[in-house]
Amino acid sequence: MPATVVVGGFFGDEGKGKIVSYLALNDNPKIVVRGGAGPNAGHTVRDGDKVYKIRMLPSGFLNKNAKVLIGPGVVVNPEVFLKEINEFEASGRAFLDRHCGIIEESHLILDSKGELKEKIGSTGSGTGPANAERAMRTLKLGKDIPSLSNYIVDVPSLIDTALKNNENVLVEGTQGTFLSLWHGTYPFVTSKDVTASGICADIGLGPTNVNEVIIVFKSYVTRVGSGPLENELKPEEIIKKGWSEFGTVTGRPRRASEFNFELARRAIMLNSATQIAITKLDVRFPECKGKTSYNELSDEAKLFIKKIEDDLGVPVTIIGTGPEINEIIDRRK
Ligand code: IMP
Ligand code: MG
Repeated sequence: MPATVVVGGFFGDEGKGKIVSYLALNDNPKIVVRGGAGPNAGHTVRDGDKVYKIRMLPSGFLNKNAKVLIGPGVVVNPEVFLKEINEFEASGRAFLDRHCGIIEESHLILDSKGELKEKIGSTGSGTGPANAERAMRTLKLGKDIPSLSNYIVDVPSLIDTALKNNENVLVEGTQGTFLSLWHGTYPFVTSKDVTASGICADIGLGPTNVNEVIIVFKSYVTRVGSGPLENELKPEEIIKKGWSEFGTVTGRPRRASEFNFELARRAIMLNSATQIAITKLDVRFPECKGKTSYNELSDEAKLFIKKIEDDLGVPVTIIGTGPEINEIIDRRK
């Protein structure tokens, strides 16, 4: 901190939600702000026996002292936004920018059929068609919607004020580097750039005000929907390794491969990452489950972390060892 950006290093679903909720609770940010595409994102946050599936609000909502904001580059589904405020008790501290684009019924219909659904495997959330309409300059904005009038703010100004007061700002990316419209596996990508620069543009934070970029890699690679996945494992191999996962938004089974160092190197470059967070270490190395200090890790797990640091030239500062927020090793301390 003060301005820390968290982004996904592979194809989304790296476990950013858990990392962001940990940082939101531990680093005392005054603002947690979301960039990225829209409600196509899905984060799972586990707090004790409560499991939150979140699509629209920032995953940092568990910190009740922080404002949770959605930047102007993100398209918002008002129904999902208002439902999550209610469900996650975020009333009075959750806001969206007046320039957020608005997803309407027509976008949901367009996203649920044809090329987007069948070829690209889109999430059907209306995000892509709404962003296309924004480019056509015909999309409605947040400030045009009466049901949102109590939630409209100027997000870039709030961020600027917080940084001038020396307060921490936590910036939450969604999706992952190789789903970027510019840098990903086009056309099998989402409808926005979702690298660190794109996320910062979404919220109105200029590059010289970014202090840290934390890139999140899962201990293996997964991909949901269509598009290339190098060295993709067969479904039975995924099950055998215990790497089976299902999409938060769509419930589709996720495809999987081994940790891909070549992709990771490129992701580090594209995001100018200064730190790495590794998630689900316990899924690869079950003996590491719930560990909170690096010394407690098995030799094999330490070797894996060391290889990542040596190969990518960036320190692994945070390691997830289970789904709970506090099942984490924080080497920044
Ligand atoms: P869309 O963003 O809904 O148009 O979907 C385009 C592609 O990106 C599809 O392959 C989706 O599965 C993928 N995608 C979009 N958002 C996410 C995400 O948050 N996690 C994982 N995959 C995503
Ligand atoms: Mg997800």
